[in-house]
Parts: sequence; C-alpha cells; structure tokens
Amino acid sequence: MTLNYTQTRLLEKGEQIPYELLLLADETIEIIDSYAKGGEICIFEHNSQIIGVYILYILDTETIEIKNIEVHKDYQGLGIGTHLLNEAIQRAKEKGFKTLVIGTANGAIKQLYLYQKVGFEITGIRKNFFIDNYPAPIYENGILCKHMIMLEKQL
Ligand code: ACO
Ligand code: ACO
Repeated sequence: MTLNYTQTRLLEKGEQIPYELLLLADETIEIIDSYAKGGEICIFEHNSQIIGVYILYILDTETIEIKNIEVHKDYQGLGIGTHLLNEAIQRAKEKGFKTLVIGTANGAIKQLYLYQKVGFEITGIRKNFFIDNYPAPIYENGILCKHMIMLEKQL
C-alpha cells in the first residue's frame, strides 16, 4: 500500500470517535473519552474507512503524549504504524513541543521495538500501572502486563 500524509486528518467536532479501533489497545471507553477531551484525535483513512488512529494529549507547555495509537487488524504490519508515529513526531514538533512521550506495557514487545526504532528512548517505569488501573489481568505475548514502560523523544 502506498502511504501519504493526506490520508491523515484531525477528527472534526461532531464526528464519531472510532472506539472500535481505539479499543484494540485494551483501553476502556471512559479512558478514551478522557484522552479525547484534552487531546487531538488524528485518523488515517483508506477507501473512506478509518484504519489508523492516534491521540495527542498535552501534558504541559513543553510536553505532549501519544496516548493511543492503533491500526486496524487487517492492515497491521504494512508500515502504517511507523508512518503514524513519524507523523505524530512531526505534528508535535510543528506545534512547538520539546518532548513527545509514549508509554506501553512491559509485555508489548512489538510496540517497544517499534517506538525505539522511530527514535524514542526508555526513560522510566510506572510500576504496577496495569495492576492498579485495570479491572482484569492483561497478557501480551504470554507476559502479564504489570508495568507501563515510558519512552520519550526529544523534538
Ligand atoms: N510481531 C513482531 N513484529 C511485528 C509484527 C508482529 N506480529 N507485526 C509487525 N511487526 C513489526 C514490523 O515488521 C515492523 O518492523 P519493520 O519496519 O522493522 O519491518 C514494525 O513491527 C512496525 O510495523 P508497522 O506495520 O509499521 O506497524 P503497524 O501498522 O502494525 O502498527 C501498532 C503498530 C499500532 C502497534 C498496531 O500493531 C496495533 O494497532 N496494535 C494493537 C493496538 C496497540 O497495541 N497499540 C499500541 C498500544 S500503546 C499506545 O497506544 C501508546
Ligand atoms: N528472535 C526472536 N525470538 C527468538 C529467536 C530470535 N532470533 N530465537 C529464539 N527465539 C525465541 C524462542 O522462540 C523462544 O521462545 P518460545 O519458548 O516462546 O518459543 C525464546 O526465544 C527462547 O529460546 P531458547 O531456544 O530457549 O533460547 P536460546 O537457547 O536461543 O538462548 C540466548 C537465548 C541465551 C539469549 C541466546 O540467544 C544467546 O546466547 N544470544 C546471544 C548472547 C546474548 O544475547 N546473551 C544474553 C545477554 S544479557 C545477559 O547475559 C544477562
């Protein structure tokens, strides 16, 4: 698939939030709504279908976080995730932020690989984040997700 930047745009006010896609990352609708309230939802469209999404959420005047990033199951592994991350980096830089933050579970091996490949560095661990904030245990790659691994990219 040929990717281009015109396939990504901000979700407009009044448009339906693509919950089904956002829920791929084991979030809840309540958590997604709280991110959407203080953030920008960017969608990636192909043949009029939303197949990629990320949410940028301002933490302070210098720091912004990718709270969610998801690609539709049928389109994973084609480079769209990499494309969206690079685009989020560019968008955050253009907005004048100094640091872009992203966090993922200790069991999310593919995500940890992908985020470091596009230039994020591991900066910390939020111990027991998933134990404390989610009602049921989450497993990825057969590993119990207990901690949130935090990564940052200087812009
Ligand atoms: N196992 C291991 N590596 C894989 C797999 C796999 N099953 N599939 C793809 N990869 C590799 C690719 O080979 C690629 O590496 P390469 O460029 O060196 O070849 C790399 O992972 C990235 O692949 P992309 O195609 O660019 O990424 P994709 O479009 O699949 O999007 C994403 C990645 C967003 C993580 C997607 O898989 C997804 O939506 N997953 C479910 C939801 C999720 O976990 N989201 C992130 C949660 S954390 C957060 O939101 C902040
Ligand atoms: N890529 C991804 N996963 C792989 C690969 C590979 N190339 N090769 C094996 N695996 C997986 C296996 O599928 C297996 O998973 P599974 O049980 O879910 O199927 C798992 O890794 C472990 O495989 P083993 O065969 O038990 O491990 P192995 O005999 O390959 O030993 C080791 C692992 C010690 C890391 C070996 O690969 C090695 O010597 N690597 C080079 C030296 C090194 O990096 N050592 C560790 C440095 S850190 C330290 O020493 C503290």
